[in-house]
Amino acid sequence: MVTIAVTAEPEEETRVAVSPDTVKKLVAAGCKVRIESGAGARSRFTDDAYAAQGAEIVASRADALKGADALLGVRRPSNEDIAALAPGAVVVAMLDPFGDRGELEALAGTKAKLFTMEFMPRTTRAQSMDVLSSQANLAGYKAVVDAASEFGAAVPMMMTPAGTVPAAKAFIMGVGVAGLQAIATARRLGAIVTATDVRPATKEQVQSLGAKFIAVEDEEFQQAQTAGGYAKEMSAEYKTKQAELVAKHVTAQDMVITTALIPGRPAPTLITADMVSKMKPGAVIVDLAAERGGNCELTKPGETIVTDNGVTIVGPINYAGTVPVNASSLYARNLLSFVSLMINKDDGTLDINWDDDIIQGTLLAKDGALVHPNLTQQAA
Ligand code: NAI
Repeated sequence: MVTIAVTAEPEEETRVAVSPDTVKKLVAAGCKVRIESGAGARSRFTDDAYAAQGAEIVASRADALKGADALLGVRRPSNEDIAALAPGAVVVAMLDPFGDRGELEALAGTKAKLFTMEFMPRTTRAQSMDVLSSQANLAGYKAVVDAASEFGAAVPMMMTPAGTVPAAKAFIMGVGVAGLQAIATARRLGAIVTATDVRPATKEQVQSLGAKFIAVEDEEFQQAQTAGGYAKEMSAEYKTKQAELVAKHVTAQDMVITTALIPGRPAPTLITADMVSKMKPGAVIVDLAAERGGNCELTKPGETIVTDNGVTIVGPINYAGTVPVNASSLYARNLLSFVSLMINKDDGTLDINWDDDIIQGTLLAKDGALVHPNLTQQAA
């Protein structure tokens, strides 16, 4: 029988790695799930709700970890946490693979099998395990709700006997998972929505959601998608043309949600200080790329600022964590799908197929060393 440990996350992390729903399924698959008391509290999952689905609730972190075969987490655990597990245990979390390298090497040194959810391959089979998508979707939703709240005026058009309230204009920059949800949410609130991206495939997606697509559609744009479906870094010439288009467009906007990212690179700057200075007073920018440097030059990660000309710029960090009930439920489902791959259906033991592309894609370290090509090649 596989013993799975779940501990409370650090104070700033509202999410948790299992939900009562996933505990039930793990127990049905033959696992023992040991949860530190209070671990789910910030996601509104009580000890009783977990226990009702078959989890064992223990008083301390140490009790949860002691000799467990696997640790499921949200953030990187500590070396001490891993040392308390069984030797060579499986650790699954968002390990921040490009974060503190020394710390990561030390974690690898524990000889645990480290799997990081951020590297989940973006294949059809892995879709139910894709944490970047499950969390970005919520972030896209929350960005619009926060923008509307900061805006201080109504979003939908309202025709009343006292006069007509005009619809707000929302511009979504970057139409990946977060951007698509932002468009859908802004439309539901009644905004007039425009959106831009450098990947040509997004044009149809934007239009199918009832928004208008705006982009420099030159030859470079037609080639701007990698085989993996991601954006490429664009040429200086394209960026200049894009900046001209954006500069003109943003001056008329009430809400701008930026979500543009390029894997493994700092976020591209799409809104300069000069563009912000020409925006309308009361306009709001929510910069979902804040954690990766921001798409707006003035964004301060973790802060909300108001410029001299009255533009509010929100720079959220761990946005999905602001809707923890949903973020944890979806993250827990992602983990459940992934961990299910490792559990032998006949006898409920750990049984890892090292040839599986999902296992290989997410395995960061094994037998004391970092093994993922994204990390070993970076070091070379
Ligand atoms: P992301 O978070 O890496 O980037 C967000 C968006 O920013 C992307 O659409 C990107 O094209 C855009 N962007 C980058 N530079 C830009 C610029 N200079 N100006 C404007 N936009 C810019 O992307 P995300 O949301 O993680 O996914 C991107 C795509 O990957 C999805 O739309 C989808 O096609 C694909 N995908 C496939 C999955 C699967 O098959 N399992 C799962 C999830 C995503």
